[in-house]
Amino acid sequence: MEKEQFTSRFGVIMATAAGAVGLGNIWKFPYMLGQNGGAAFLVVYIACVLLFGLPLMITEIVIGKRSGQSVRGAYQVLIGNRRWNGIPILTCLTVTLIIGVYLVITGWCVKYLLMSIVGPLPTLNGWTDVLCNAFAVLCSVAVVWLGVTKGIERLSKIFMPILLLIIVILLVRVMLLPGAKEGLSFLFSFDADKISFDVILSALGQCFYSLSIGMGALITYGSYIPKKQNVVTTACGIVAVDTLVAVMSACVIMPAVFIYGFSPEQGPKLVFSVLPVVFEQMPGGHVMALLFFALLCIAAITSIVSLFEVLTASLVDVTAHRERRPLTRHQALVYVAVVCLAISGFCTFSMTGESDWLVWRGKTLFDGLDVLTSSFMLPMVALSTVIFFGWFVDKQVMIEEMKPHYGTKPWAIQGYYFLIRWCFPILILLIGLNSIGII
Ligand code: PHE
Repeated sequence: MEKEQFTSRFGVIMATAAGAVGLGNIWKFPYMLGQNGGAAFLVVYIACVLLFGLPLMITEIVIGKRSGQSVRGAYQVLIGNRRWNGIPILTCLTVTLIIGVYLVITGWCVKYLLMSIVGPLPTLNGWTDVLCNAFAVLCSVAVVWLGVTKGIERLSKIFMPILLLIIVILLVRVMLLPGAKEGLSFLFSFDADKISFDVILSALGQCFYSLSIGMGALITYGSYIPKKQNVVTTACGIVAVDTLVAVMSACVIMPAVFIYGFSPEQGPKLVFSVLPVVFEQMPGGHVMALLFFALLCIAAITSIVSLFEVLTASLVDVTAHRERRPLTRHQALVYVAVVCLAISGFCTFSMTGESDWLVWRGKTLFDGLDVLTSSFMLPMVALSTVIFFGWFVDKQVMIEEMKPHYGTKPWAIQGYYFLIRWCFPILILLIGLNSIGII
């Protein structure tokens, strides 16, 4: 069967940006900004995106585009042997666990959205939350079920503009509140003293997370990009949308939090416990809450779609050559969805306080998997991918992809290889060590 492809550059950018723009932008970025000194973090973050995020994104897209394969086949095809097949296995394992954790937070978004429509929900212990996770899984399955062009591309072209429109509406509303200026001045008054080693490493980690680096999504979507399309321009478009959404969300959340007298340094609970109170006090807050949680749901579900696609495409490829009947796309998708939903269910129950066996030394399964994936597994995947591409893949691959942009200018290629061979491995190692708490 002919492999499906995206049909236009706009489609590629919308689909990939829909995957990249997620809770990382709207939930995580604003609270990290609040905790790490506002404008100082923003400047460091943008520098990290341009210097490191963009080249890494280009690398992953090129791996997908040149091999034309899912994560499972891409590494093998590029070097012609199976020596690096550990990376696809680690990627798929990481992605499965990440979705399990992510679905829990997505479930909360769904719950808050429902509450902003129908009022308080009946509490069925953890089951209310699990049902909300299941709702998010169903929506994501529906998109992937329809296929790459008719599902992922077409729906991203509809939902990304809706997402941007919602943010603009929220932004305008918040800017019209008295006192919005003070909130913005926290975001935009730059104090160089606040830039520390810690802030830089957190910004780098956040930049990788937000751009979905090391998750296989860029490789998988890269394999659906038409051969003649330029990777560099496409990646710039995706990075621009992703960063814009993050900055705009911060501009919505921070002033709102300031105006109603909360501290910006609330951490992860900023969006779920502070914002609902803020919305309650705001004139027209009911509509604002509805729009905001709809925004979170759209962002989160389109991100889950991208990771479901990673796993589904890989699972189809794994079984394609076996003697028994290979799995169809739809069968693979159902397996993926059931496993991820089960993991998210265990994570949810680990937090409700009734399932002691899911809590170990005061840490819930949810916390454990979150740390395991973001501090160990994601950096491992990213590190092995840069070593693989920098040292083992023929340089010609990148030279050909950069040609339409830089012609034969050697500085671009040399600069790129300097980054990928030396700087990135060291940086990724540092981020990993920092998030474990060793440095
Ligand atoms: N870039 C995504 C985000 O910002 C990362 C992600 C995608 C994480 C899908 C989990 C699942 O949210």
